[in-house]
This record gives sequence, structure tokens and C-alpha cells, in this order.
Amino acid sequence: MTAPMPDAAGRLTVVLGITGGIAAYKAVGVARAFVVAGHDVHVVATEGALKFVGRPTLEAISRNPVHTDLYEGVAEVRHVALGQRADLVVIAPATAHTIASLATGLAGDLLGTTVLASSAPLVIAPAMHTEMWEHPATVANIATLRSRGVTIVGPDSGRLTGTDVGPGRMSEPEEIAAAALAVVGPRDLVGRRILISAGGTREPLDPVRFLGNRSSGRQGAALARAALARGAAVTLVAAHLEVDAPAAATLVEVGTAAELDAAMREHAVNADIIIMSAAVADFRPVAIAEGKIKKDAVGETLTLSLERTPDVLAGLASSRRPGQRIVGFAAETEPDDARLLQIGAEKAARKGVDLLVVNRVGWAEGFGSATNTVIVLDGAGNVVARAAGDKASVAHRILDLLA
Ligand code: CTP
Repeated sequence: MTAPMPDAAGRLTVVLGITGGIAAYKAVGVARAFVVAGHDVHVVATEGALKFVGRPTLEAISRNPVHTDLYEGVAEVRHVALGQRADLVVIAPATAHTIASLATGLAGDLLGTTVLASSAPLVIAPAMHTEMWEHPATVANIATLRSRGVTIVGPDSGRLTGTDVGPGRMSEPEEIAAAALAVVGPRDLVGRRILISAGGTREPLDPVRFLGNRSSGRQGAALARAALARGAAVTLVAAHLEVDAPAAATLVEVGTAAELDAAMREHAVNADIIIMSAAVADFRPVAIAEGKIKKDAVGETLTLSLERTPDVLAGLASSRRPGQRIVGFAAETEPDDARLLQIGAEKAARKGVDLLVVNRVGWAEGFGSATNTVIVLDGAGNVVARAAGDKASVAHRILDLLA
């Protein structure tokens, strides 16, 4: 998959799908609102849409060619290229027919293939008669789309095409554009290069065993995803992630603390911000057995001899270039709040970080869970933020402090 990346000015590539309803004439206003906000608009119109609004109008307003035909631009694989490039896909108006097609994943026209080829947020603005909007088929299709994370804007209630009045009127163009841009969120990290470590390292004992930890990489992956959404270029150094890494990040996979250290040093050179959310082994076996350690050869107890690994974070902080900002994490089992803050403050100073994200971990807390509760300290140990909730919202709260 091609990574959708905003250009340096924070300009989004918006695919605007227009389908065949009378409200298609209002889609001109939607295209205009995105263009005025500085975004690059590519209209994909169905044949039906072009019966209601002229191609020249849409081309003049969007400043780009209008696409309709699945069999045009085959050489450049246009049926998927537009979707892959999109940062945002908006369909306005979305007819009852289009909504049904989207719910079932039909790809019989250029808009259908574009939507299926895109991992960008999808926002639709339904427009139809009240009876069609309230029909159980449409209600079920809308519920399906919502459950997949599609944002539905409107419809408004008001005067429809004929003399009838009721819900089904497409929302106003400015409102649709604003709602769609809000889904993408703030673009305050455009042009920033962020290096993030995530997951947990594993130190081999022999060819089949390792010493590891319970970090799933969820918080690190959420940070990467949130930073990408805010426009940053992200390099993710991943150690044994249990979750998918975002496709748009540059992924560097590592296994051990030493590999993580080497990868972080290499990529730190180009980073404006470094976030060390990985759980790094503090100790590794002094020697790795060539073959499997056999219990009969060992006896009743096995004593492992371990040595310290490099402190990756402290190393990065001590060799940081001017202006580079460094964030560490501290996973602590300390139950007492005041003591937890004291440990955090000492760690922030010892590591030389700009921010330290302190979270409590335990048998049932922190690792692997979908939520997190953190306290963020500055380098001097002052509390600068507290955040609790799913790991995506905690990620955004941390990035708010860096944006
Ligand atoms: N860290 C690191 N290299 C290590 C160990 C930890 O870079 N060898 C980083 C972690 O990624 C995290 C921060 O240091 O950002 C704090 O990790 P933590 O395990 O909480 O602290 P430790 O340095 O291991 O200190 P302590 O053993 O006192 O908890």
C-alpha cells in the first residue's frame, strides 16, 4: 500500500465523491470549501452526478480533472491510485444507492474502487427523500458504515426537492467540509520527523528461548498513528509488536536491546522528536548458548549470568542535537502516588529527557491493555499533564505537549 502523506505545507489530498442526486449542485460548494482551506481536491463523480452538475464547473472549482470512468487512466491504475493517495475521502451527496453500495463494499464504479483502495477517513453526507432515509434498509446500511468508523454528516431536516419537508436534505457545504476536516484532526506536526520506539525487546538465552517483557507496543503504535494523523513523518522502531504498525510509518524491526540501540542511534540523526516508548531489557545473558540448553546437563537449578544493556534513552539524550526533543517513558509498579512522582522526577533528571511519561504497571495494569493512565513530567520533574483513556487519546495528549 502506498503511504498517504501530506505535503510539507499541510495540504491534504481530498477525494470528493459526488453521486447522482439533486444535491450534487451543492457539492460544488463542498469542493470550494476544501480549495479555500488550501487542500488539493480530486473529484470522482458518478455518471448520475454529472446529470446534475457540469464537469467544467467542477474542474474549474477543484482545479483538477474530474474522474468518472473506471476504464480511464488504466495504465496508471487510477482505480486504486486516487484512493491510495487520499488523506481524506468525502462523499457528498451520498444517495441511498451509494450508501447501500458502500455498506456492501461494491466496486462497480470508480468511486467504489477508490473507497475500497483507501485507508483514509471516510465522511459521507447523505441526501435523499425522508422515506428513503427512514427505510430499514438505509437505516441498517448507515449503522454498518458507522460501525466501520465512517463519519455521517447530516442529513438536515427541511425542504426537499418537491414540496415535501423532512429529514433528508444534504447538510450545508461549509458544514460538511468543516466536519470532514475535524475528522482528520489538527495538522500541527506537518514537517516534523518523529522517531518512536515501541514494543518490548527480547534477549536470547539459546536458539529457542529469550528473556522478554510484557509490552505489547500498543501505546507506541498509537503514538505513531496519532503523529501521522497530525502530519508528521514517522519512523517506528518496533520490537515484537503485538499490534499492526501503521502502514504509513517507516518501519524498522528489531529484536534485542542492542539492535534497538543501533537503530535508534542511526535514525536519531534525522529526528526532530524522539519518543522512547519501548520496554527495553536492562539485562541480557552474558553468553548465548549455541545449542538448546538441556536440563539434564544443567541439573536441578539454573543460574543465569546477566550483564547490563546500554541505556538507549540516556545515550540519545546525552548526544542530542540542538533543538531535538526527547521523551521517555517510565513503567513503575510503585503504588504510592507521591513516591511514584518522586521516582519519576529522579528518572527524568537521570535520563536527561524533556518529558517523561510515567505510568503504573502491574499484573493487571498497563501492559497489553487498551487503556492507559499517565502522568507527564518535564525534565525538572514538574507535572505538566495527566491523561487517562484509550491509548489513542493518551497519544494525542502527549503530542499536544510537543506540537
Ligand atoms: N530505556 C532505555 N534503555 C534501557 C532501559 C530503558 O532506553 N536499557 C528507556 C525506556 O524506553 C524508557 C525509559 O528508559 O523510555 C525508562 O525505562 P524504565 O524501564 O522505566 O527505567 P529504567 O531505565 O529501566 O530504570 P529502573 O530500572 O530504575 O526502572
